[in-house]
Amino acid sequence: MVKVSPSVMCMDFMDLKNQITALDNAGVDLYHIDIMDGHYVPNFCLNGDIMKSIRSVSKTPMDVHLMVTNPTDYIQFFADCGAEYISMHIETLDHPIRALKQVRDLGKKAGIAINPETDIFTLKYILDYIDMVIVMTVVPGFAGQTLIPSTVEKIRDLCRMFDDAGKNIDIMVDGQVKDSTAPMLVEAGANILVLGSSGLFNRYKPEEYSQAIKWYQNL
Ligand code: DX5
Ligand code: ZN
Repeated sequence: MVKVSPSVMCMDFMDLKNQITALDNAGVDLYHIDIMDGHYVPNFCLNGDIMKSIRSVSKTPMDVHLMVTNPTDYIQFFADCGAEYISMHIETLDHPIRALKQVRDLGKKAGIAINPETDIFTLKYILDYIDMVIVMTVVPGFAGQTLIPSTVEKIRDLCRMFDDAGKNIDIMVDGQVKDSTAPMLVEAGANILVLGSSGLFNRYKPEEYSQAIKWYQNL
């Protein structure tokens, strides 16, 4: 079954608890936590305090997507805040294997995010250290952009690379996952969908989440 990870940055912060409860009842698999430093990407976003607040009302695992210049400085911090997955951009890492091992040594799943412009072959020799790849289907930093079409082929190529290497690595897609794009993303090989503005929160009310989440999970 396809997994879904609602993007917390796209939620209504005035109604966070109610939305989290509705999403938990709808059976979501993860919560996607976008961390931005205003430097690697020109925006600011969530933080450790929001993660702790979510953890106080929900047991659903959280995946942290670090869009920061020095991600290795914050691995321990976000592990302590309750992250189950910690993903770093390959474009920000000097020594990816060391960084990925640091995440796994804390008992967390290690993820690598790749920007739309980045070639998948940067991952070819580090597959042993990766639990999940986040394929960015938009340029990171903002919700509500337009999906970059070439990223669909990239998912297909990534799947082929994993198959050839005999690896079972999750492929999460992040950016403009919605009813009109999700089927082709899943068909290409994505198995975890980040649901943001047009895919969930600007489209459905909390009482409609169950039906929407099930639709995505059954793709
Ligand atoms: C973009 C973030 C995404 C964002 C997706 O930088 O990483 O998680 O929330 O939002 P939508 O689905 O609206 O593009
Ligand atoms: Zn993200």
